[in-house]
Amino acid sequence: MTDRIANDSLRGRVMTAEEAAQFIAHGDKVGISGFTGAGYPKAMPAAIAEKAKEAHGRGEDFSIDLFTGASTAPECDGVLAEANALRYRMPYQSDPQMRNKINAGELKFQDIHLSHSGMMVEEGFFGQLDVAIVEAVRITEEGNIVPSSSVGNSVEFLNAAQRIIIEVNEWQSAELEGMHDIWTVPPLPNRVPIPITKAGDRIGTTYVEIDPEKVVAVVLTNDPDRNAPFKALDAVSEQIAGNFLDFLETEVKFGRLTYDGYVMQSGVGNVPNAVMAGLMDSKFENIQAYTEVIQDGMVNLIDAGKMTVASATSFSLSPEYAEKMNNEASRYRNSIILRPQSISNHPEVIRRTGLIASNGMIEADIYGNANSTHINGTRLMNALGGSGDFTRNAYISSFISPSVAKDGAISAIVPFVSHVDHTEHDAMVFVTEYGVADLRGLAPRERVQKMISIAHPTFRPLLEEYVEQASKSKYQATPHDLRHAFDFHLRMDETGTMQKES
Ligand code: COA
Repeated sequence: MTDRIANDSLRGRVMTAEEAAQFIAHGDKVGISGFTGAGYPKAMPAAIAEKAKEAHGRGEDFSIDLFTGASTAPECDGVLAEANALRYRMPYQSDPQMRNKINAGELKFQDIHLSHSGMMVEEGFFGQLDVAIVEAVRITEEGNIVPSSSVGNSVEFLNAAQRIIIEVNEWQSAELEGMHDIWTVPPLPNRVPIPITKAGDRIGTTYVEIDPEKVVAVVLTNDPDRNAPFKALDAVSEQIAGNFLDFLETEVKFGRLTYDGYVMQSGVGNVPNAVMAGLMDSKFENIQAYTEVIQDGMVNLIDAGKMTVASATSFSLSPEYAEKMNNEASRYRNSIILRPQSISNHPEVIRRTGLIASNGMIEADIYGNANSTHINGTRLMNALGGSGDFTRNAYISSFISPSVAKDGAISAIVPFVSHVDHTEHDAMVFVTEYGVADLRGLAPRERVQKMISIAHPTFRPLLEEYVEQASKSKYQATPHDLRHAFDFHLRMDETGTMQKES
């Protein structure tokens, strides 16, 4: 028996995942740990998927509603989607199998701001949460849980659930204990200010307090988190990173930022990770991150002494860096804090820390609205994640993206976004490999040429053509030609490219 379970009564509840699956019934609402491929339960999803398949084989219904922190991994979202074991899923996903089911209309998915999602479950917006399944590195003598490589919505799920299943994963380093900072937002009407003034402030406990009486099963695992490696840096992402750094330099020049005052939020994805590589050789020092996920680039910045502290809710590391974190967790504990996502993404703290947000996007339009989630307005890619939490509340909000996708067939700058995640009122700065469009202080019509200047040269004449048509509009506040506003998207739908046949 493992020494990771220090509570005697919970030791008595150890069983296999297959046995623990008896506590999951058709129609249950299940909240699990897990965020961007880190800290998700490793054994229970497969056991639930198997149970669903068996039930379907007998001609019986079996599906659950699944709530998480964010995305998980093929061993979790993938197997559950494949087994048709899910009816409803929120708040984020990035799994290919799940994405296909959602886009085929076979699985209901709701894209929710990550900072809201835990509170919504705890307050009963979805009804009673039946089960919480949470991965831990250790169970303390008192029966409390030391989370693993993410915190996500686990605190809210553990509070709200009627039954708790704990997976103790011995693959996760026991040295992660001490990295977490668990503080719970008191429920209404007793909310109080969150006492974080700087990214590095610790305000809570290193474990999650639970009611041990609710624990129905403890499952032992020894399995790695699974994350895809980041793509190798290419010339385009290096150019984008260079332009983003030029933008930061401009902020310093105008006295709006100092070389030791950069508080970073960086979204998921390859391009944001490239920006961090660019920061290694920059003049910026003592960088702090108040962000959602810790990616490879941030670990490099910490190692290089460029970043003093990184506060997030989860790791999102390549397999190589996940291994490194596991081996050296006791060292990284000094500079990394993992918080509940209700705190890492909390508007109040984001606004107070004065961070600069930078996130990826699918497309943006000539007036500065951004689409992070839907290709051609209808096909879900991943989800909104925390991009709305940060974009709305940051000191400066930026979007960074290649100017084209799919070998130049698709423009990231379009006349009108086909789906709106971030409005022109929230997004401030857009960066591509062609430069920076700083929209601050500009009325809608003044933004147009800035946005076209960062579009790919192939698409600039088409955008100009649209602007020319739109400028004939009767109303000049935000001129549009609604008959042609989606021509880029219609062409893509019909021909597979936004380019016009010449
Ligand atoms: N049309 C079709 N596909 C597009 C596209 C578009 N307009 N824009 C991007 N893509 C595709 C790319 O081709 C690429 O596909 P591939 O994986 O098959 O090569 C994929 O989307 C990823 O794009 P990439 O350019 O590598 O950027 P990225 O890794 O930074 O991801 C998003 C971009 C938008 C998908 C990603 O940032 C995202 O999911 N954002 C929403 C959530 C978020 O912002 N979270 C952060 C909160 S803290």
